Amino acid sequence: MSALPQVAVIAAADLDRAIGRNNAIPWHIRDDMRRFRELTMGKIMLMGRRTFESLGCRCLPGRSSVVLTSDLSLGERYHVRCFTSAAEALDTLTRESSGELMIIGGGKVYAELLPFASRLYFTRVLTRIMDADTFFPPFEDTFTLEAETRVEAGVQNDFPCLFQDYVRKGDC
Ligand SMILES: NC(=O)c1ccc[n+]([C@@H]2O[C@H](COP(=O)([O-])OP(=O)(O)OC[C@H]3O[C@@H](n4cnc5c(N)ncnc54)[C@H](OP(=O)(O)O)[C@@H]3O)[C@@H](O)[C@H]2O)c1
Repeated sequence: MSALPQVAVIAAADLDRAIGRNNAIPWHIRDDMRRFRELTMGKIMLMGRRTFESLGCRCLPGRSSVVLTSDLSLGERYHVRCFTSAAEALDTLTRESSGELMIIGGGKVYAELLPFASRLYFTRVLTRIMDADTFFPPFEDTFTLEAETRVEAGVQNDFPCLFQDYVRKGDC
């Protein structure tokens, strides 16, 4: 068992690994929102400034929100903890965290911090979004699928999707 808590990434992406369009998530999948809530509850969530803005510049209840930005005045304006360095954020937050440190996006932050994650909670949305402008990095060569559950489309789920739990190769 490692001495420090694990770094985990949580993301939802389409078949082309698209995750966003116009600083919003391009689907509504209620079951995925529920999974996100369950997996992040009680934990520290680290995100980029644009993702924080996409959440309406508010902290989600029951979790500690932390934002990466070069503009520390954001912290004062929205009463949110900020870091200007990803390395410093990872170092400080893994020391403080009693559970997993959750990296929740967006594209820039995933690309920077996925290499430090030992676990990936991934939702594969079974569609192809037109005009997506933000993507999740390739990961299939470095992570192994541990578990998968299929969820069907419905009134509250725009598309069918797969809830997938991955671990970094070599960690299992
Ligand atoms: N599908 C999903 O699971 C999911 C999850 C989250 C977000 N998203 C989507 O992803 C999109 C947003 O992603 P994005 O790539 O545009 O932005 P982002 O990663 O959310 O935020 C980028 C910003 O974070 C700050 N930042 C990142 N790394 C930093 C570092 N090392 N040091 C200091 N600051 C750093 C910078 O802010 P400053 O410019 O202030 O310096 C940068 O401009 C949206 O469409 C959102 O809806 C999708």
